[in-house]
Amino acid sequence: MTLDSFTIDPLVGEEDLNGVLEVEKESFTNPWTREMYDSELRNPNVCHIYVVRVSACRVAGFCAFWLVVDQMHINNLAVRPSYRGRGLGSALISHVLTEAFRLGARFSILEVRRSNAEAKKLYERFGFEVAGTRLAYYSNPVEDALVLRLDEKASKNI
Ligand SMILES: CC(C)(COP(=O)(O)OP(=O)(O)OC[C@H]1O[C@@H](n2cnc3c(N)ncnc32)[C@H](O)[C@@H]1OP(=O)(O)O)[C@@H](O)C(=O)NCCC(=O)NCCS
Repeated sequence: MTLDSFTIDPLVGEEDLNGVLEVEKESFTNPWTREMYDSELRNPNVCHIYVVRVSACRVAGFCAFWLVVDQMHINNLAVRPSYRGRGLGSALISHVLTEAFRLGARFSILEVRRSNAEAKKLYERFGFEVAGTRLAYYSNPVEDALVLRLDEKASKNI
């Protein structure tokens, strides 16, 4: 099932933040906390957070990234389990890459669990390639991270 309509907006206010925290808890074994997001939001020159909205849900998913000089670092991307597989994750990635490149990023970096086939497939579709490995980067459970990188010139499908 595809969704008829959705919008992607910058995170604004407490209700959006509460939605992001819910999606975090539903999606990750080590979710970022409110304190971590409060700290991020005090650094708006670097930290960018976008939420995807559908008519029945104010925050169906989100993506948080840092933009430092010409580097975009995607920190978190998640869609609520009940809304997955309908294109929202792809729409979010497309949106944040477009926005970061517009703001001056020349490349994008992220970490993903080695076993996270769905996310790897999603990133590869946009041109991300494995650039390295961080051993035992994740906990709960312990797992390596693959470092994925995308140069602006190599991006596709955005
Ligand atoms: C990764 C994630 C954000 C993708 O979001 P999504 O909204 O499902 O993404 P899309 O609908 O755009 O689908 C992306 C791909 O995954 C597949 N997929 C993902 N979930 C699916 C589901 N429940 N049913 C069917 N296909 C699914 C799709 O086939 C699609 O690939 P394709 O278009 O080439 O066929 C989502 O699975 C998620 O939140 N995962 C948990 C958090 C996470 O691992 N984040 C990444 C951290 S690096």
